[in-house]
Amino acid sequence: MRLAAFSELIGPDGVSIIDRPVPEPDPTEAVVSVEACSINRHDLWILEGDSAMVDSDHLPFVSGLDVAGAVEDVGEDVRNVEPGDRVVLCPNETCGTCRYCREGPENLCERFSLFHGGLAEAACVEADRLVTLPDGVEMAEAAALPTAYMTAYHMLRRVGAGPADLVFIPGVTGGVGVAGVQLAAVLGAHSVGTSSSRAKLDRLESLGLDYAIESTDPNEIRDAVSEIGQVDGVLNHLGGAYTQLGLDVMRRDGRMAVCGRTAGGTSEINITDLFLGHKRVIGSTMGTQGDLERLVELVSDGALTPEIDETYPLEETGSAFAAMQNRESVGKLVVRP
Ligand SMILES: NC(=O)c1ccc[n+]([C@@H]2O[C@H](COP(=O)([O-])OP(=O)(O)OC[C@H]3O[C@@H](n4cnc5c(N)ncnc54)[C@H](OP(=O)(O)O)[C@@H]3O)[C@@H](O)[C@H]2O)c1
Ligand SMILES: [Zn+2]
Repeated sequence: MRLAAFSELIGPDGVSIIDRPVPEPDPTEAVVSVEACSINRHDLWILEGDSAMVDSDHLPFVSGLDVAGAVEDVGEDVRNVEPGDRVVLCPNETCGTCRYCREGPENLCERFSLFHGGLAEAACVEADRLVTLPDGVEMAEAAALPTAYMTAYHMLRRVGAGPADLVFIPGVTGGVGVAGVQLAAVLGAHSVGTSSSRAKLDRLESLGLDYAIESTDPNEIRDAVSEIGQVDGVLNHLGGAYTQLGLDVMRRDGRMAVCGRTAGGTSEINITDLFLGHKRVIGSTMGTQGDLERLVELVSDGALTPEIDETYPLEETGSAFAAMQNRESVGKLVVRP
């Protein structure tokens, strides 16, 4: 089978197509014939050599978390799926024995990690991490869901977003950003988001973004959001200067969920404002398999249509990463092996 592997950690030019035998499943595993795998900034960081997880000793490395496809083969102990089933993978890997695995939620697992290996014609995965897809859910839509939509949904739950709340999403045009807008709307909340690109924001408005701010200047954004109203919750996947900005526009007792560091891995925040305003900053990573199951239901019911900017054949995986690196896309980029 063919795989799009990271052969060098030099950015999009480091992707090459290699061949390997189709894997044999262990007793609890399933082999999925990958029909779609969406990419995330997490993969791009690995490819750029900006991840502690993968270095030159691990090359060639096959990334790709968000697998959708058909079950091809199952190990002898697998009961939940059988060959031919249409499935999407929850890429969470958990130990199953720590207190967080016992008491939940599972994404708190002390040994939490993520599946990698979806940028290939077949992927060998833990079968109990597969969610069955109803007939109406397309493979590319399903592949968009696991990392971006599950993370955004979990963050919305963590900030307690509900009807008529105002949710602030700086950097609103990417995977997590667009998911945040669409899912805020599903929950009855309003959204305000930022981007450096007017053209991308125009597309966001048709996806349910209520207020669009074209700016990367924190002072300008602060003023523009303040004119709209007080923010109840912030989805912060940028970090850097956007953390204090989010706190500035948030109402007393508001909540900010943080999942990323695209604009900077450290943030300076005003402690006095934090405690006098009773504000909360909450770290959040991925979501639960139950979150993913609910998202699949929303798509199946027609309440959510994941936004896919572009699909690429396996041999053009490098171009998908170039589009992400160049900030060209709105929503998700999907590779179709
Ligand atoms: N902890 C977790 O479990 C988890 C899960 C998913 C994602 N994440 C993190 O969340 C972040 C977003 O992931 P994603 O896959 O949605 O990425 P993405 O699709 O590449 O996000 C693109 C968005 O980020 C903005 N952006 C890019 N570079 C920027 C910069 N230097 N300064 C300000 N804004 C910038 C873009 O703004 P423009 O519109 O102006 O181009 C666009 O709105 C990443 O940091 C990722 O690692 C974490
Ligand atoms: Zn655990």
